[in-house]
Amino acid sequence: MLTPRAMLGRMKILGIETSCDETAAAVVEDGSKLLSNVVASSMDLHAQYGGVVPEIAARSHIEAILPVIEQALAEAACTWNDIDAIAVTYGAGLGGSLLIGVLTARTLAISREKPLYAINHVEGHVYANFLTKTSLSGYSMRQAQPVFPMLAIIVSGGHSQLALFRDHFSYTLLGQTQDDAIGEAFDKVAKILGLPYPGGPSVAKAAESGDPFKYKLPKAQMPAKYDFSFSGLKTAVLRLAQAEIGESYDFPSTKLPERLSEAQKTDIAASFQRIAIETIVDKAKTAFEEFSPASVVIAGGVAASQELRRQLTAALPLPIEYPDFKLCTDNGAMIATLGCFHVKTGQPQADPYTLAIAPNLSM
Ligand code: KG4
Ligand code: ZN
Repeated sequence: MLTPRAMLGRMKILGIETSCDETAAAVVEDGSKLLSNVVASSMDLHAQYGGVVPEIAARSHIEAILPVIEQALAEAACTWNDIDAIAVTYGAGLGGSLLIGVLTARTLAISREKPLYAINHVEGHVYANFLTKTSLSGYSMRQAQPVFPMLAIIVSGGHSQLALFRDHFSYTLLGQTQDDAIGEAFDKVAKILGLPYPGGPSVAKAAESGDPFKYKLPKAQMPAKYDFSFSGLKTAVLRLAQAEIGESYDFPSTKLPERLSEAQKTDIAASFQRIAIETIVDKAKTAFEEFSPASVVIAGGVAASQELRRQLTAALPLPIEYPDFKLCTDNGAMIATLGCFHVKTGQPQADPYTLAIAPNLSM
């Protein structure tokens, strides 16, 4: 049962997110006000392997989940009595990681007698854009919530999607990547260039001192209008790097960083970044012209890209408000926010005794 407070609309939702390497929990009020946002990342443990190791991520979640939830409640100055419902990511993501969040949320829903809502991680990223208020320091919040119809550009380490939302829970997936996600392409190109993980920020930094027009890299042509592909671009970067040092296709990629000059690295980073972002922006522009949305939102870790923001500003006629960077990467706040809308629009609750994870959940 929802509390009278929730029925009046001043509900507080606890959001729990563990789909990848971030253990995160947050409390959000009324689907718009961020009361707390706690994220413990195991990224440092994965950096030495150049990517997320699922077993390490799952083990880190087990250690961090309860302290992270406790801290999220404390920072929001809440007790369990103040919490109206629990929202948890049940997919998509790494199986072992999702399991820790879902089992924790199920247990808490039963023991604390709270309604439970199962949240789609990718939809969650979009809802970071509905947060407009906070008294927490260090956040730059959007001025207003986006309006429908809303074009969502979802760009993260695991997803590259364009979706048209006509209303809450009423959307069409216009297209998506058929192979690598754009963030994954940044991460792989960073490896080729010997730049540190995660690749997005390090490629962006290298690109600052490079020439984005130095190299001509290919933009994938897809049969479906709004689909993406990034694996060809990644291979083109590898071939370019091999050619630049005068080696053939079988030269090992692990030995490339020591042979490439700084100028070659920064020029490759800048040329790759320009084309990868253009791939997304071209399709967003086409979708904007076809559907005339009233708002455009960006979601996912790659939304932090300054190049994406620059190109979108140039391509679209309407101003775009961006969520704070801390709300673009994985967090519990976006999950709690979407949870609020589940409650508000009467979406079905999850059964705390049976809710299963869905690692391959799509939009
Ligand atoms: O949304 P997110 O935190 O995790 C997933 O759900 O995947 O996204 C992480 C991705 C990584 O691939 C990272 O390299 C990328 O976002 N990223 C960026 C930037 N900052 C993070 N990509 C491009 N430019 C950036 N500035
Ligand atoms: Zn994510």
